[in-house]
Amino acid sequence: MTAARARAQLAADVSRFFGPFRRNEEAKYNLGLGEIECRNALMEEAMGQKEKIAGKLLSSLSKYPGCQGYMPLNEKIAELIKAETGMDFNPGQIVLTAGAADAISHAVFVYSHAGEKVMFPVPSFPYWCSVARNESLIEPIMCMPQDFSDKLSGRIEARAKNVSMLILNVPHNPYGCSIERGEAEKINETASRHKIKVVIDDVYRAFTKKEWIGNSFDMENSVIVDSLSKRFGVPGLRLGFAALPKVEVKHFRAAVANQYVGVSMPSAIIADALLEAYLSNKKLNTIPKEIEKRQEILDSYLKKLEPYGIFSQKPEGGMFRAVFCRDANLLAAELAGKNVIVKGGRSNFPFSYAGMPEFIRISVGGEERIREAAEIIAETVKEIEMPLEGEKIAVIR
Ligand SMILES: Cc1ncc(COP(=O)(O)O)c(C=O)c1O
Repeated sequence: MTAARARAQLAADVSRFFGPFRRNEEAKYNLGLGEIECRNALMEEAMGQKEKIAGKLLSSLSKYPGCQGYMPLNEKIAELIKAETGMDFNPGQIVLTAGAADAISHAVFVYSHAGEKVMFPVPSFPYWCSVARNESLIEPIMCMPQDFSDKLSGRIEARAKNVSMLILNVPHNPYGCSIERGEAEKINETASRHKIKVVIDDVYRAFTKKEWIGNSFDMENSVIVDSLSKRFGVPGLRLGFAALPKVEVKHFRAAVANQYVGVSMPSAIIADALLEAYLSNKKLNTIPKEIEKRQEILDSYLKKLEPYGIFSQKPEGGMFRAVFCRDANLLAAELAGKNVIVKGGRSNFPFSYAGMPEFIRISVGGEERIREAAEIIAETVKEIEMPLEGEKIAVIR
């Protein structure tokens, strides 16, 4: 017999999103998961040192990791944050985790008591599983792309009761939207007044030219969550971190330590080698530029589909796009039949949120043949969708 909570979490089972096992799907256009498949100069540099790194990896296996991290890596992460945001974090304010997803799960544990609410704009990365696992409640803010720039703060204010934590992911997965400074300042003010902790999911910080939203937030009331997964193209490393106010470190560290002692040492050693190379030569990170190029190609196709209700309005970064449609499962199945794998938006949202628009999510990270795939997507939309004359840009069910 399984425990009630183990059964209850199946309503928010993230393996629906990621798949239980990996299969070899090389023949297909992979526009589904947010992985990175492109030339990675940083990895090439690491390959040049593979013997040295392998030696360190093997000798790290005989020791338990630290409960908070690995000091050389914590120091480099603090340097990375300083270089990109100007913020001073002491290496002791950083806690290493098994990816950003894990950092978010610990943040829910630390900042939201069971039964309190965690708020985030929806659609989103699957945060609901972390919330369900910690027996907190979800307060989704159903958003269209155009809701981000100037409507978010008002909607947060209206729903702030019993909310203890807000997750903000900018640029947003899947819309690619950013939040303007004035709006971000209003969100910060609302969150502080209602004692809502702000968790900035910063995994796409390197994938935009817009100002970093963290500049508008009071760092005493914020946590930055990030990882090496996207920016350095190594999601399989499962290495992330949280940077948080000094007084909260002990709580966060205990949350990690009580679950798995600390991150895998081989992951920390590889992350350390990658960051060392990156900090000494930032040009080695070829990924954000490649992703931007792919987005431009994809957007050039999506723009032509505007009459069909497709979103491609001035996205500001990230590595995804949402394509609105009448029936996401149908469109995803048609595309799969033509070897183009995308995420059928709604089917991945286990709670069938009321007001969730129909959309498919396209990732440009894992696929080099974007032009070919975009052509198939455009053709398929024209075949099975009808222009949405005079309607808004999405069909809301
Ligand atoms: C917005 C967002 N946050 C977090 C994650 C999780 O990243 P990680 O691999 O670091 O756990 C993803 C992955 O797609 C994401 O899109």
